[in-house]
Amino acid sequence: LPGLTFLGIESSCDDSAAAIVRMNDRAEILSSVVEGQVNLHAEFGGVVPEIAARAHAERLDGCVERAMAEAGVSFAELDGIAVTAGPGLIGGVLSGVMLAKGLAAGTGLPLIGVNHLAGHALTPRLTDGLPFPYLMLLVSGGHCQFLIVSGPDSFRRIGGTIDDAPGEAFDKTAKLLGLPQPGGPAVEAEAALGNPARFVFPRPLLDKPGCDMSFSGLKTALLRTRDTVIAEKGGLTKADRRDLCAGFQTAMVGVLEEKTRRALEVYLEASPAVPALAVAGGVAANTAVRTALEDVCAKASVRFLAPPLRLCTDNAAMIAYAGLERFQMGLRDDANLSARPRWPL
Ligand code: KG4
Ligand code: ZN
Repeated sequence: LPGLTFLGIESSCDDSAAAIVRMNDRAEILSSVVEGQVNLHAEFGGVVPEIAARAHAERLDGCVERAMAEAGVSFAELDGIAVTAGPGLIGGVLSGVMLAKGLAAGTGLPLIGVNHLAGHALTPRLTDGLPFPYLMLLVSGGHCQFLIVSGPDSFRRIGGTIDDAPGEAFDKTAKLLGLPQPGGPAVEAEAALGNPARFVFPRPLLDKPGCDMSFSGLKTALLRTRDTVIAEKGGLTKADRRDLCAGFQTAMVGVLEEKTRRALEVYLEASPAVPALAVAGGVAANTAVRTALEDVCAKASVRFLAPPLRLCTDNAAMIAYAGLERFQMGLRDDANLSARPRWPL
């Protein structure tokens, strides 16, 4: 095969995934297999680490086999194996790292450990060949940060949440209002039908300089308002629920919008030749969030990029791609590669 071909393996949260990515003058996803576990964890209202670890251990082999078969690629045609080595739930990360080490030892292929966040942060290069340096807003169920990405191994964090991640806040809001999980899509659907002006929720840290965010107060305010409504009326009507969702989402979008404006200012200080903001993470699926960010970018004459949703959320194509970029820089790991539950970029 011409170019470089990598297998990627991802198992840091609740998706078991494997993918084959080939890099010529541009990157091409030959296959991307993702097996979610939402149904396994649904009854517990959150990801249960032990259940996730067991599911990864049982499924990852099959994901790799499927990814290779769908791409029509054999181990002899691969140039390397990339695996998420953290951060994440340690049992799952370990499953992936052990599998990748075994495959690398058995085939003699180079092994590359990838930071899951770097995988997300490099995705706009995989999808659009975006040149460095760009600003990345990562907004998922577990993460929320602004990164100036200036190389495959070069990330400057200029702000982020000091408590909950936005997706987590969406999920908790859904739980408090009796809506299904994952909460983001459910809350978005309700919010679209609600009155955003009826309940006005706090927008923490907007009065403070910088790009840090906080969302735990928003959740507490929502809980308190919900309980006040219930105390007054004996329960929540459909309209109450919709208005609470609309108020919550409006506050969330307001914070992300204003902090993005500030993050862009910091990023633009370095006068990038082709200024761009890219998003990644499940919350980037939210239309209100996307529209607000598009707007901020348009006003600042900055290109806005949102990769397709299946590449915004957890997947192994981003891990294979990040591995390829590291490999091309000459970076390698070996059998000592360790799984890291915490690993800031
Ligand atoms: O990136 P992701 O698939 O997983 C990780 O957290 O790593 O993100 C999942 C999160 C969940 O919290 C989910 O509720 C949220 O993204 N999400 C949304 C929407 N779709 C998914 N949040 C708001 N609006 C949405 N439409
Ligand atoms: Zn992720």
